[in-house]
Amino acid sequence: MGEFAELTFRGRTIRLPVVEGTEGDTGLDISVLRKELGAITLDPGYANTGSCRSAITYIDGEQGILRYRGYDIAELAEHTSFLEVALLLLRGELPTRDELDAFTASVKEYMVVHEDLRHFFNAFPKDAHPMAVAGAVIGSLSTFYPESMDPKNIDESKESCRRLLAKLPTIIAWSYKHSLGRPMTYPHHSLGYVENFLHMLFSTPFREYVVDPVVARALELIFVLHADHEQNCSASTVRVVGSSQANMFASISAGVWALWGPLHGGANQALIEMLEHVRNAGLTPQQFVDQVKTRTASIRLMGFGHRVYKNYDPRAKVLKKAAFEVLDKLGVHSELLDIAVKLEEAALKDEYFIQRKLYPNVDFYSGIILQAIGIPLTMFTAIFAIGRMPGWLAQFNEMHRDPDTRIARPRQVYVGQARRDFVPIAQRG
Ligand code: SDX
Repeated sequence: MGEFAELTFRGRTIRLPVVEGTEGDTGLDISVLRKELGAITLDPGYANTGSCRSAITYIDGEQGILRYRGYDIAELAEHTSFLEVALLLLRGELPTRDELDAFTASVKEYMVVHEDLRHFFNAFPKDAHPMAVAGAVIGSLSTFYPESMDPKNIDESKESCRRLLAKLPTIIAWSYKHSLGRPMTYPHHSLGYVENFLHMLFSTPFREYVVDPVVARALELIFVLHADHEQNCSASTVRVVGSSQANMFASISAGVWALWGPLHGGANQALIEMLEHVRNAGLTPQQFVDQVKTRTASIRLMGFGHRVYKNYDPRAKVLKKAAFEVLDKLGVHSELLDIAVKLEEAALKDEYFIQRKLYPNVDFYSGIILQAIGIPLTMFTAIFAIGRMPGWLAQFNEMHRDPDTRIARPRQVYVGQARRDFVPIAQRG
């Protein structure tokens, strides 16, 4: 037997095998715990609980390290395209030029959605949030592809992965067009993946949107940086739903819903709203930081803090640098960026944040870039969803290929009423 931990409870001692990770991270296998000791673990939010072995993404929260399939995020951000990273996450290796070209061509083909999907958009209110539309339409895709419902079928899964990667940008762009009362714009074979998304968002029959390469590259960078993040809330949701052998469309739709929350993917929109509040209320950054600390208004410094990173989120480092570069290239001044930098400076030297190891996360600067390139605020979380799609798909596929996978069904510690006799309604006070 390899390395183990010993656990003694009520006079009985058991050995828990140690599972050693590639980078020295370790897990204690507690799969015999309840059978051997009659007890379970309790870990609200699963902060200390691993759900799986995974080979997709590695995070060292203390060192601020993030790698997709072993490649450092800063290198990938600088040198890769989004579909290149998507293939890396899905297949485990960086693609050759021919592999990437073939994958890109097939994904672009799939950006065209079934014509009947257009009718969905007419049913939504004009102010429907894009995440509400995305979750509903993604989940309904299974009705258009009944032949792709078996998550264990590798070939069907590959087709579904391409469809989901390809169709989410179209769905989100069309939800935006519907909100404006404008006609839907179709993707065009001559444009790339990111360019097509911008084209569908902003072109009209009256005027073609000319894609600025700076804008396209900034958006591609944001997609690359959001592509996966191991067992975050939405990826875990995709795994939990998929563990029942629900089809890929249903499982990814569940991931969209989880991402929408302001503590998760909704933080980028909440960040901008927070910066606008600081500006409009005439608060100094220090005054706002002080308000956060006193928690009188139960406000949080959005874009700060992380369950895993107890250091600067490496994605935030890349995005902070990119925010200045993009604004400079576009000749745009952002008052909100100035406020964000001052908030970061105030928080990073404040004992409240230092003691709790709260640093900027991926959302602290991404919203500044999205705003500068003209993405509407209500679309920010939907942009995160487009970026996270390859990660959700890779996690879903890895789960279905893992022989240890079982349906996700946590236990609980019951703290409710003990057994009591039924009281007929006539005798209730
Ligand atoms: C993402 O998991 C992932 O990988 C997610 C993500 C991904 O790529 O998938 O990285 C994307 O979701 C990034 C996080 C975006 N969310 C925000 O920016 C919202 C603001 N941040 C938080 O609410 C919070 O930091 C979380 C939700 C991100 C993490 O929450 P935890 O790990 O449950 O930490 P906690 O709420 O228990 O906080 C610990 C302490 C508490 O204070 P005490 O009770 O100990 O006194 O830190 C405080 C919290 O009040 N705290 C904050 C804070 N974050 C934590 N105080 C002020 N502002 C904050 N932002």
